[in-house]
Amino acid sequence: MLLTPIVAAGMLLSVHARTVVPGGQAINLWRLGMAGEEHGSTLTTRATDATFPQYNFTQPLDHFSNTGFTFSQRYWVSDRYYTPGGPVIILDSGESSGTERLPYLDTGIVDILANATGGLGIVLEHRYYGASVPAANFTTDSLRWLNIEQALADSANFMANVKFPGINEDLTAPGTPWIYYGGSYAGSRSAHMRVLYPELVYGAIASSGVTYATILDWQYYDIIRQFGPTDCIHQIQTTVYEVDELLSDAKSHTPIKALFGLANLTHDQDFVSLLAGPLGDWQDKNWDPAVNSDDFANFCTALGSPNDTSVEIAKGISVNAATINYAIYVNQVCQEKDGSTADDCFGTFDPTQYQATDLSQTWRLWQFQVCTQFGFFFTAPPDPKQPRVISKLLTLDYAKMICEFAYPPGQHFTVPALPNITAVNSIGGLNIAADRLAIVDGQEDPWRPNTPHSDIAKKRPDTPLRPFKLISGAVHHYDENGLSNRTAEPPVIQEIHSQEVQFVQAWLSDFKQSKSGL
Ligand SMILES: *[C@@H]1O[C@H](CO)[C@@H](O)[C@H](O)[C@H]1NC(C)=O
Ligand SMILES: *[C@@H]1O[C@H](CO)[C@@H](O)[C@H](O)[C@H]1NC(C)=O
Ligand SMILES: *[C@@H]1O[C@H](CO)[C@@H](O)[C@H](O)[C@H]1NC(C)=O
Ligand SMILES: *[C@@H]1O[C@H](CO)[C@@H](O)[C@H](O)[C@H]1NC(C)=O
Ligand SMILES: *[C@@H]1O[C@H](CO)[C@@H](O)[C@H](O)[C@H]1NC(C)=O
Ligand SMILES: *[C@@H]1O[C@H](CO)[C@@H](O)[C@H](O)[C@H]1NC(C)=O
Ligand SMILES: *[C@@H]1O[C@H](CO)[C@@H](O)[C@H](O)[C@H]1NC(C)=O
Repeated sequence: MLLTPIVAAGMLLSVHARTVVPGGQAINLWRLGMAGEEHGSTLTTRATDATFPQYNFTQPLDHFSNTGFTFSQRYWVSDRYYTPGGPVIILDSGESSGTERLPYLDTGIVDILANATGGLGIVLEHRYYGASVPAANFTTDSLRWLNIEQALADSANFMANVKFPGINEDLTAPGTPWIYYGGSYAGSRSAHMRVLYPELVYGAIASSGVTYATILDWQYYDIIRQFGPTDCIHQIQTTVYEVDELLSDAKSHTPIKALFGLANLTHDQDFVSLLAGPLGDWQDKNWDPAVNSDDFANFCTALGSPNDTSVEIAKGISVNAATINYAIYVNQVCQEKDGSTADDCFGTFDPTQYQATDLSQTWRLWQFQVCTQFGFFFTAPPDPKQPRVISKLLTLDYAKMICEFAYPPGQHFTVPALPNITAVNSIGGLNIAADRLAIVDGQEDPWRPNTPHSDIAKKRPDTPLRPFKLISGAVHHYDENGLSNRTAEPPVIQEIHSQEVQFVQAWLSDFKQSKSGL
């Protein structure tokens, strides 16, 4: 695929992914890392042999002023359970190619809900992603129609006007009830759709929906600190504090980088950023072994158990055994390519490495949304007394550097110095709520602090009209995938799936009653 991982394969799926862009250089990518992103990973979506017909829907480039331009938005249809009178179950594919979401039409949440309701299942691709691309390139100017307002208006226009090939009934909203589902960024879209287009979206499920945009997102890694295996977190913390201290002393500065094979990497922030990389693998865990990534578990195994042994790495400089183990692991997964320098492979401070803007540079898409509207910059905790699992050198300035490098001002659009998170948060943020809007999250999801299940959100009850479900032991949108043999799913997954079936069925019976004037 276009994005070639140079570290562990799973890292690309994680929030802090390091990627080689064509030309061989590395960049830091801050992405939501949903299951099944467009980088062709085999790790995160169960393959589907079922084929679903693919169609186009014509959208205006700009919903709010007439440019005269349109583009084709792709969607896929499953009619295997559809019976006239049934609802439409639509899954928003968020910041990925829609093709990566097709397993959810086959054995995942769309299949489950469609079967339970006689519904028509749909996957709808998001503008700019996959093949729903309205631009000739991804320059700053060409990306100016990539924002939540335009993309939400796409979904509304689709729901109000689509005519499904081969289906005679008019299934547009609001005449037909539409149930909107999304996970992660698409989860925030699901909640936003229900709040902003209540007449079109009859019910919605926001799974791990990141409705709360933040500039400093130090809590992402803090969830891993809280829920990761105790020994492993202990080893990570031992190394992180030791590395920070050794980097701050001129005498030990080079030896500690050399221990990790990275003595030639110019910037210390690039060095400690590589050390944070394996933590991103946490997000790739899944209850389904066919989808799960073992990378985090392997990382923990490599770090060993807490052990007071210290090892001399240079004259008068000793480190704990944890740091030795960490260095061996990083050495194994971060291999420089022949003929490249450490800066070529792992450096992020050269603005020229971000300049390609052709359509193969799909990393520019979610990154643009981050830089303009979402933030989500992963940093060390601002409070130095707060325990941490990443280096204190991972600052906001370092995290947002890519925004300035990758998106120089255009003629028509300028990326702000800091993302303007107001538009996202003014829809509700942590307190977003509506009737027939279900909030489903994972207890151990590093994105939970950006959802209504954040520890700082107002507590709310779980009711059939406003379901509020926290899946214990779960990471990122664990309800989105499913097995064809439902009874083989773990009990917590069977339970959330059947709860989703129950409340969606209850909503739909309300719809029927309101239609019949009862
Ligand atoms: C959908 O649109 C794309 C891009 O415009 C085009 O290449 C493709 O042929 C269209 N597919 C269908 C089924 O019309
Ligand atoms: C569809 O639902 C029916 C009735 O609830 C159930 O018996 C059947 O197993 C379901 N089929 C699938 C493929 O889940
Ligand atoms: C990007 O595409 C626009 C047309 O949409 C064109 O005017 C512009 O020159 C292109 N820029 C680059 C760098 O390819
Ligand atoms: C660091 O750079 C020097 C000089 O360019 C080179 O000889 C050496 O092999 C490099 N070290 C590593 C670990 O790549
Ligand atoms: C401590 O860790 C070192 C390095 O991994 C290992 O050689 C040593 O055997 C360990 N000691 C104990 C007591 O586990
Ligand atoms: C940020 O966005 C909000 C809402 O979209 C807007 O009202 C406000 O003017 C913007 N702030 C800045 C500094 O541009
Ligand atoms: C479905 O899974 C259950 C529980 O693991 C198992 O007992 C059953 O044999 C499976 N059914 C099929 C058809 O594979």
